[in-house]
Amino acid sequence: MNLSEIQEKIRTLKAEKDICILAHCYQNPEILEVADFVGDSFALAERTKEVENSTVIMCGVRFMAETVKILSPEKKVILSNETAGCPMAETLDVDELAAVKAKLPEHTVVAYINTTSELKTLCDVCVTSSSALKICEQIENDKILFIPDPNLGGWVAEQMPEKEFKFVGTGCPVHAIINESDWEKVHAAHPDALFLVHPECKKDVVKHADYIGSTTGIMNYAKNSDAKEFIIGTECSIVTHLQMECPDKKFYPLSSNMLCQNMKATTLMGVLGCCEGSAGEEIELDEDIMDGARRCIDRMIEMG
Ligand code: 13P
Ligand code: SF4
Repeated sequence: MNLSEIQEKIRTLKAEKDICILAHCYQNPEILEVADFVGDSFALAERTKEVENSTVIMCGVRFMAETVKILSPEKKVILSNETAGCPMAETLDVDELAAVKAKLPEHTVVAYINTTSELKTLCDVCVTSSSALKICEQIENDKILFIPDPNLGGWVAEQMPEKEFKFVGTGCPVHAIINESDWEKVHAAHPDALFLVHPECKKDVVKHADYIGSTTGIMNYAKNSDAKEFIIGTECSIVTHLQMECPDKKFYPLSSNMLCQNMKATTLMGVLGCCEGSAGEEIELDEDIMDGARRCIDRMIEMG
């Protein structure tokens, strides 16, 4: 089968089996083409509640599929590749967070949605990169414990100096490995390009930005801008998608090392396997964990 035959088979199976495919923007173009909805983490969570199909295949990473299951427990939810975790979501464990919370009992715990469902049960509200600022601004408590991305959290904290932030966690390995010297090199090569960056990058990098935002925020900015050249400070797939959508503009990766192997674990053949019932992993979570995690995801959707 060639690529378009595989895509056609996926479309036929979707209709026959009442399947909806949701895909994060870091997925490859051939997967986005068969998806019913493509978005950043916040848009995917928001959209989940509107899906009417009985089965959802989430082309992304585990915490995204868990979010769909938590918001729609009656649906069959399949993670497109069972190995696709998010290292940031999985580095912090429940005992570690419980110990920190015990030392900071007055803090409101804000969890980046890139966390395990178990961890979310210990938190007050979730945020995504596109909603973090808006949600933290609405929290009445002036003491916030932000997990597990100190770069995103630090960027939010800078904009509200009146609040006291504490951080736990190491951040996203794909974005946090980038240094100011990477920006200097690409900026020297393309001095007229605007720099659009994800807030998961470090402060030394983000400080050079012309725009800071989530993956869809970056894409919308580039599409709507009159500028012709852009340095893209997030996962390299966004460079590919933008170049395909805006052929008259030029897009340069901040670094070609910005590849998320977990996001790339999903293949078109894997998606076909999920539709046929021979690939992927059906998400199953304990009721208690779903109830605890749902509380802070629902709060995020309300406030975001
Ligand atoms: P957003 O989808 O919120 O831009 O986050 C990027 C990311 O790293 C998802 O894993
Ligand atoms: Fe996790 Fe970073 Fe990959 Fe997103 S890009 S899934 S935060 S490791």
